[in-house]
This record gives sequence, C-alpha cells and structure tokens, in this order.
Amino acid sequence: MSAAEKLQLHTDTAQPLFSVRDLTRLYGPEKGCQGVSFDLYPGEVLGIVGESGSGKSTLLSLLSGRCPPDRGTVSYRDTTGNWVDLYSASEAQRRTLLRTEWGFVEQSPRDGLRMGVSAGANIGERLMAQGVRHYGELRAAGIDWLQQVEIDPLRIDDLPRTFSGGMQQRLQIARNLVSSPRLIFMDEPTGGLDVSVQARLLDLLRGLVRELDLAVVIVTHDLAVARLLADRLMVMRRSHVVEAGLTDQILDDPQHPYSQLLVSSVLQP
Ligand SMILES: Nc1ncnc2c1ncn2[C@@H]1O[C@H](COP(=O)(O)OP(=O)(O)OP(=O)(O)O)[C@@H](O)[C@H]1O
Ligand SMILES: [Mg+2]
Repeated sequence: MSAAEKLQLHTDTAQPLFSVRDLTRLYGPEKGCQGVSFDLYPGEVLGIVGESGSGKSTLLSLLSGRCPPDRGTVSYRDTTGNWVDLYSASEAQRRTLLRTEWGFVEQSPRDGLRMGVSAGANIGERLMAQGVRHYGELRAAGIDWLQQVEIDPLRIDDLPRTFSGGMQQRLQIARNLVSSPRLIFMDEPTGGLDVSVQARLLDLLRGLVRELDLAVVIVTHDLAVARLLADRLMVMRRSHVVEAGLTDQILDDPQHPYSQLLVSSVLQP
C-alpha cells in the first residue's frame, strides 16, 4: 500500500460512517426511544441491549430509514464521501441505500427472504437491482455466497422454505452481503434458533464482519451475543440509553444500576 493510500485509509476510518443526534420517537410516555446520539465508525459493531419493550426495535427502525423520527437526525457518509441526511433524502434515495450500501437482517427469515423463489434468486436480487444481468455471473455469485454461509451450493435451486431455520438465516445474510454493503442492521438475528445453531451462526457472522470490515448495528437481548459480536454497547431502558461504552467495560464493570441488574442476569430470560 502506498503512503497516499494509507493516508486515505486513515482519513476514511477516522471519520464516522454514520452519525445520529437526539433521535426520538415516542408512542407514549417512555414508549419508543428518545434523545439517542452516537457515531459509528467503519468496521465497528454496535450492540443495542435492554429488556423487552425498552425501545430497541423502535430505535433500529429509525436508524435504518424505516420509520421517521419525531425529532433528531440520522446521517450517513456514502461511498462517494458525501453525508446524506436520511430523513431529508427522498424515499427513492433511502430505498436505494437500503438495497445497496446497507443491509437489514430480520429476526424472522420469512420477513427477510422471498420464500417463493429459489435460494439463488434470493441472493441474486440485489445484484440485479444494481444492474447485473449476466446469468452466469448471478449464478456464480449465488454459488459463491452459499459456500460463504456454509450452505451446500447444490441447494441453489431449492426454495428457502425447504431449509432449516438456521439455513434460512444464513441465506438471509448472504442475500444482504452479496452487494458489498458497508452497514448492516440486525434485529435479534439469532432469536428464534436453537442454542447450538445460534452458536454456529454467530461464529459465521463474526467471521464475515471482520473479513468484510462491516459496520453493524445489532439489537439483541442476549448479552452473550453482545459479548461475542459487539465492540461497543448501548443499554436501553424505558426509551432512554442509560449507559454506553465499550462492550467489555459495560459487561465487566457496569456503572448504571440497570446495567448492573442486566449483567447480573436477574433480568435475563
Ligand atoms: N408502532 C407502534 N405503535 C404503538 N406503540 C409501539 C409501536 N412500536 C413500538 N411501540 C411501543 O414502544 C415500546 C418499545 O417497543 P420496541 O418494540 O421498540 O421494544 P423492544 O426493546 O424492541 O422490545 P422486544 O425486546 O420485546 O423486541 C413498547 O412499549 C411498544 O409497545
Ligand atoms: Mg424488538
């Protein structure tokens, strides 16, 4: 790498990819999320933890352009280096971001996959949206990504509904990552799975995140998942972020009484 390239890389990672200020949406007193601010850097994994109803999914919807806030801003630095203000951008711009530079892994694969078309078509869709029309190229990407998420490539023409829950979730990840996104949102991606299947999926995710230098915002109420994947955590309670910091610091030495309760596993399901 040349000195100029190194400098460029340094400048790139020294700047946030995603910047959130005073993000608020309330459905009732302390229902939703309020006053959330943070910066996310390229390649960084941010975990959002907290009890059921604390506002995690609400926050994720606001962050990912799915639901407009009552107030606050979400800004994203796109591949050309320009800052895009998510909610003053057009609907079309937001949608383009979501299927190119961003990804969203749903808790239920049924919401994130097209169950009526083959595994290969699920993977190819985002590439086609980006203008790839060459059948051989789409097929090759399908095979490559099935292998990357540890699904037998011979299953490329099978419908997702013939897959196990763990395989469906891996397929959903492949479908999202094929377009080389820089930022991925995930809401409880291992939620509905058996413990052993969860562990394998988490291992896979951790490998991909590192290898592809992905920035991730992941919602989970499982602190083991947070420990394994997240560099930083935000702890939510009743619509507020009550504590934020490095994952190890929060899990090993929580400061806020609620984080202390959470970590002492009193509130663990
Ligand atoms: N569209 C909506 N309309 C009305 N109230 C809502 C809506 N979405 C969320 N809420 C309320 O906002 C609060 C936060 O919900 P949210 O789904 O964000 O919590 P969560 O932390 O994701 O919980 P869980 O861990 O159970 O998924 C809850 O009290 C919920 O009932
Ligand atoms: Mg939720």
